[in-house]
Amino acid sequence: MGKCKVPTLLFEVFFTLCCMLESQVEARASSSSLDREIEAKLKLLNKPAVKSIKSEDGDIIDCVHIYKQPAFDHPALKNHTIKPIPSFLLDYEPSSVRGTPNASSQVFQLWQKSGSCPKDTVPIRRIQKKDLLRASSLERFGQKPKAYSTNKKNHNFTILGVTDDYVNLQNRSVSHLSTYGFNFIGASANINIWNPKVEKKGEFTTAQIILKASNGDFFESIEAGWMVHPELYGDSNSRLFAAWTRDSYHTTGCFDLTCKGFVHVASSTALGASVGPYSSRFNQQYEINIGIYWDEDGNWWLNIKNGTVIGYWPAELLGNLRHSATVVQWGGQVYSDKVKKAPPHTSTQMGSGDSADGRFGFACYMSN
Ligand SMILES: *[C@@H]1O[C@H](CO)[C@@H](O)[C@H](O)[C@H]1NC(C)=O
Ligand SMILES: *[C@@H]1O[C@H](CO)[C@@H](O)[C@H](O)[C@H]1NC(C)=O
Ligand SMILES: *[C@@H]1O[C@H](CO)[C@@H](O)[C@H](O)[C@H]1NC(C)=O
Ligand SMILES: *[C@@H]1O[C@H](CO)[C@@H](O)[C@H](O)[C@H]1NC(C)=O
Ligand SMILES: *[C@@H]1O[C@H](CO)[C@@H](O)[C@H](O)[C@H]1NC(C)=O
Repeated sequence: MGKCKVPTLLFEVFFTLCCMLESQVEARASSSSLDREIEAKLKLLNKPAVKSIKSEDGDIIDCVHIYKQPAFDHPALKNHTIKPIPSFLLDYEPSSVRGTPNASSQVFQLWQKSGSCPKDTVPIRRIQKKDLLRASSLERFGQKPKAYSTNKKNHNFTILGVTDDYVNLQNRSVSHLSTYGFNFIGASANINIWNPKVEKKGEFTTAQIILKASNGDFFESIEAGWMVHPELYGDSNSRLFAAWTRDSYHTTGCFDLTCKGFVHVASSTALGASVGPYSSRFNQQYEINIGIYWDEDGNWWLNIKNGTVIGYWPAELLGNLRHSATVVQWGGQVYSDKVKKAPPHTSTQMGSGDSADGRFGFACYMSN
């Protein structure tokens, strides 16, 4: 669905060489006041679980009652009633099923091997003390780095429907297909799953779909895909994410449910949890179908895989995006403070780490 048609594409401009994973030595003075701050933050972030599942990758997945999830801590959602899944999604057949045979049905999350969440609960990756100890900022824990407008004169994003040249994604390297318009009401793709190397703590790499609209001095976006983010998650696994911001990531913009707002409805799939299998050269390619669709009440729904509705971004959270998106982007992003600065450039990889001319089986692609 959607009012625009997008061609199948192969994307990627990627870093060929790689891989010195520096081992990071954590040394932080532990003071009891830091401990107290961390305990308080954990209490705020984690919700009581009906059941907890220990995953092989060290994650703990809490099955939280659907009405106890973090979304309901958002002031705009105090009286929110969970929406029924729109009928157009119930009989939705993702293009991965219709067309390509690239092993989307084998895609799974590691924690699913260790158990499942009961009815009326949703799986939420528990934030542990060690996650907070790794964070470079407790205050901005889980959030994407801020973006700025380079439109010095107006310093706002009104022009976003025409171009997003004014969006300055500081310290980021991006490679994507962008479409501009005024009325996008959905976007989807089969995203090839890889496990690119990340050079050092604080850096991350993503493959994602982004829908954007302007919001006065800021831009709003909703985004979903996979990423590797060692600082946030403590390992180098590729993980499923879904983010939203209404202020260019200044106060919102988390990769999972850490920023309250997204209403999670699926009991089978967790945001921030590992997703695989990974594709490799000369071998089977795996892909995950990700679709983001607007409903007439202004909510945006996230659907993955084979018709699994993960949840939705409620209209209450959104400004102009409530009506439609003006920009859609498909592609990859690397965040590093060594981007566009004095060499050496970061060796963190995007996509498969291979260049686009490697084509199928080598370069990371998005199709359909
Ligand atoms: C929730 O409902 C109460 C009582 O009807 C009302 O006073 C309040 O403004 C509502 N809050 C929101 C965010 O809609
Ligand atoms: C995956 O899809 C591509 C492009 O549609 C096709 O060329 C290839 O043969 C498929 N691979 C497998 C293993 O089905
Ligand atoms: C995917 O969806 C198709 C069509 O609805 C169904 O036949 C198939 O069993 C589903 N596969 C999985 C793995 O859920
Ligand atoms: C944003 O910029 C446009 C022109 O590009 C201007 O008309 C509008 O008043 C500005 N809005 C704000 C909130 O500054
Ligand atoms: C970008 O990197 C520089 C260090 O090179 C850092 O000081 C700055 O805060 C970073 N900005 C953002 C928005 O991440």
